[in-house]
Amino acid sequence: MVFKDRLGLETRVAELKKSMPKKRILVCGGLGCLAKGAQQVFDLFVERLETERLSWTVEKIEEDLHRPVKTGCMGLCEAGPLVMIEPQGILYLRVQPEDVEEIVEETLKKGIVVERLVYQEEKNGHKEKWPLMKDVPFYRKQVKIVLRNCGRINPESLDEYLSRDGYLALAKVVTEMSPDEVIGEITKSGLRGRGGGGFPTGRKWQFARVVKADKKYMVCNGDEGDPGAFMDRSVMEGDPHSVVEGMTIAGYAIGAQEGYIYVRAEYPLAVRRLKKAIEDARAAGLLGQNILGTSFSFDIVIREGAGAFVCGEETALIASIEGKRGMPNPRPPYPANKGLWGKPTVINNVETLANVPAIILHGAEWFRSFGTLTSPGTKTFALAGKIKNTGLVEVPMGITIRELVFDIGGGIQNDRAFKAVQVGGPSGGCLTETHLDLPIDYDSLCGAGAIMGSGGLIVLDEDTCIVEVARFFMNFTQNESCGKCVPCREGTKHMLNLLQRVVDGKASMEDVELLEKTAAVVKDASLCGLGKTAPNPVLTTLRYFRDEYVDHVLHRVCPAHVCQAMKEYFIDPEKCRSCGKCARVCPVSCISGRPKVPYVIDQSQCIKCGSCFEACPFDAIVISWRRKNHE
Ligand SMILES: Cc1cc2nc3c(=O)[nH]c(=O)nc-3n(C[C@H](O)[C@H](O)[C@H](O)COP(=O)(O)O)c2cc1C
Ligand code: FES
Repeated sequence: MVFKDRLGLETRVAELKKSMPKKRILVCGGLGCLAKGAQQVFDLFVERLETERLSWTVEKIEEDLHRPVKTGCMGLCEAGPLVMIEPQGILYLRVQPEDVEEIVEETLKKGIVVERLVYQEEKNGHKEKWPLMKDVPFYRKQVKIVLRNCGRINPESLDEYLSRDGYLALAKVVTEMSPDEVIGEITKSGLRGRGGGGFPTGRKWQFARVVKADKKYMVCNGDEGDPGAFMDRSVMEGDPHSVVEGMTIAGYAIGAQEGYIYVRAEYPLAVRRLKKAIEDARAAGLLGQNILGTSFSFDIVIREGAGAFVCGEETALIASIEGKRGMPNPRPPYPANKGLWGKPTVINNVETLANVPAIILHGAEWFRSFGTLTSPGTKTFALAGKIKNTGLVEVPMGITIRELVFDIGGGIQNDRAFKAVQVGGPSGGCLTETHLDLPIDYDSLCGAGAIMGSGGLIVLDEDTCIVEVARFFMNFTQNESCGKCVPCREGTKHMLNLLQRVVDGKASMEDVELLEKTAAVVKDASLCGLGKTAPNPVLTTLRYFRDEYVDHVLHRVCPAHVCQAMKEYFIDPEKCRSCGKCARVCPVSCISGRPKVPYVIDQSQCIKCGSCFEACPFDAIVISWRRKNHE
């Protein structure tokens, strides 16, 4: 169907809203659930419903139509495959193919909830159960603006997007708003870029709008290089039309006719769904020449990136789209003035753009009713680490870390103690127990030395070594440094070496001082955001967990029992039979002994390789962790 004007679109949306089946089975088609067998569950539902058609009367079936739909990620990936039964909103977790029969028989036919498949938590010795998705603690405090359609619609269906007011914002913009009015509304809403920096979106659009140029470009940044982050992927996979609509509105506002979505090639499902969304929107007259019969034309091309973290940085991303090596360039000039092929270009993150249609439809005031004064709206997070409910969440800005970790995340796994959260990915920082009541918004996080980043949030428990965490992230940024500027290329390498010395138990306090000084130089002198933020995990862990560095350096103790160098191997004289097998396999010959006398390990030479432990037939080798005051 081609929409020639706004009325045609609005009529179709109204029709679809009425005709969409209310009774549906939604099977999560996010990658997490697909990996756990969601496809098989989906196929079985399809098969079972078709079989039922044989035994039920046709009229009954049509009247009672249950249509299984494969959706985008529903969020609680940890407990996948997820299945939701509408209209009741019953949520089933860890659904296996053999559960399908029971769901069909009990829930679809009799309306009875299959209790063993619903969300449950052990509280004060008894199990509490929550059958409805809206009541499940993981979902209760969430507010879904960006993820409004993820898990609710079939992302490959334009009709389903339309049935949820899809493209009505675009229709409103191109028929009744001037570009300045659009920018005014976005500015009023206070929307800030969700890609990490938090720059006001309206202001960025205004910069590009006022520049005179024969051509302008709109770019969507779907690179998402942070380890563990998958928020943007979920939106691109679960609701690709919202990105296309948001980009088209942005294109209208700044005066662009062409747009690029830069998405990493490791996201093949996102690429496929975006391509389909673009084709379907174009075929419906919602993209391409004379959108909805107006004089506005805008089209989108997908560019697949090779998956380098630095390519998410906007100037490197521009170079990559132009076919050059993805290396950053100094700013200014900013892309809004001189971007892709030297033309004014706006680059926005996926999540930022997915917010745009909702703001246009419901208004700036509505958007401001969520979040805080300086950070309105919501933020998506990929909750990961030692938490019970890992997955994708969207929460109002200003929610505290405690609410996110304990109420939504369900607390720490295996009843261990909370230690820290790493927020903002490799460019972010570690926050501690004292920050549990810190509101999550751009300014509060910055004040504590961390950043929002694009929304990776990793929860660490008492068994995590904080120095090892800093080393892990430094290893990542050092690997991903493009090498163009010396402070980042050499500085991150130097910092990694120093951190390695700490975890290897070879560092002195001078090394720690040098680490801190180098971090300051790398932060100040690097060319792009990668280098400028790479020291954050080190600086925040030094600020909040200095004692742990000191333990490693002065006492050779790893309080979390993680760093292998802080382990010691001993020979239990009671168990040793003086067979000499341990001494023969020791690669550094640090075990000595003689017949009938228990063997001993020279601790000063031992490299903790564990060969003796493996070789001893009498379990005489004992492993122990060094403690403070250890001789
Ligand atoms: C090393 C590095 C990696 C980045 N990766 C991303 C990314 O994957 N996605 C993203 O949207 N922004 C990323 N950014 C931020 C972008 O440069 C840019 O600020 C953002 O796309 C602007 O969009 P926004 O205003 O909507 O946030 C990265 C920045 C740096 C320095
Ligand atoms: S993939 Fe199914 S809940 Fe995330």
